[in-house]
Amino acid sequence: MNEQLPVELLNDAFNGFRDASRKLEEQYALLEDRIDELSQELAEKNRALERTRRLAAMGEMAARVAHEIRNPLGSMAIFATILERELGAEPEKQRLANHISTGIKSLDNLLSNMLLFASSPEAKLKPVDVRKVLEEALLLARGHEKEDVSVKAEFCGQTSIMADPVLLRQLFLNLIINAIDAMDRGGVLKVRTKVIDDRQRYMEIKFADTGRGIGKEHIDRVFDPFFSTKDRGTGLGLAIVSTVVNAHGGFIDVDSVKGEGTAFTIGLPMMREYRI
Ligand SMILES: Nc1ncnc2c1ncn2[C@@H]1O[C@H](COP(=O)(O)OP(=O)(O)OP(=O)(O)O)[C@@H](O)[C@H]1O
Ligand SMILES: [Mg+2]
Repeated sequence: MNEQLPVELLNDAFNGFRDASRKLEEQYALLEDRIDELSQELAEKNRALERTRRLAAMGEMAARVAHEIRNPLGSMAIFATILERELGAEPEKQRLANHISTGIKSLDNLLSNMLLFASSPEAKLKPVDVRKVLEEALLLARGHEKEDVSVKAEFCGQTSIMADPVLLRQLFLNLIINAIDAMDRGGVLKVRTKVIDDRQRYMEIKFADTGRGIGKEHIDRVFDPFFSTKDRGTGLGLAIVSTVVNAHGGFIDVDSVKGEGTAFTIGLPMMREYRI
């Protein structure tokens, strides 16, 4: 038997179906937008990942190139020293040979900084004498020195400490070179060590120069990698200094007055006492 459905019932069903399909269409449009957003995010993340991979590969390559340059540089340094000695009777030529030695030392420092920056070093601790490491760093800074700049060192009490001598030398060298660079019109760099017996025993090493100082607008950025105010600076020196301090579980402070001078204070934990 064929019973006819009332018209209102059919209308209701039809309206219900139309509402449901409109809602579905709206949700579908929302989903499409979200999918677009997500694929854009994914594409951006892929690009960032690719950039990071390239940077890591470049870092590795830079470290390898630095290693390769190091060996011939060593031979050149020896040859330049012999040349300098043999040209004793010809001061003008000897000065030129001295320029070669100085250039080699600067390159060597740059390579050391690059290698340390690329490798995030671990400190291999052993008993070292801070006085000896400082002397080595001062020797490496030779050629950088200026006529009217003098260095005064004062060691109060014990100078033996548990540290990585290679890293420590590089730290000292960067601070010494920066201080000399800052003293265009001559001055004094005072290096002072003392043992602080606080809650934890540590050695305080202070490098205070009478150079041009650091402006307030720059002081917060000096430890940032690649920050430099020098024409030919790479901005790696203080980044390495802070990496080395951290590798030793120490701390570093900077205090500076523009036009008067700058003091970097380092604290390195003493750990155990050793007699050298
Ligand atoms: N003793 C200092 N006196 C005045 N300014 C300093 C001193 N030490 C660091 N600075 C400032 O901090 C900046 C960063 O120093 P950093 O050693 O990191 O790089 P750089 O000396 O410019 O280059 P690089 O050490 O790589 O050759 C310097 O360019 C300089 O402006
Ligand atoms: Mg420097």
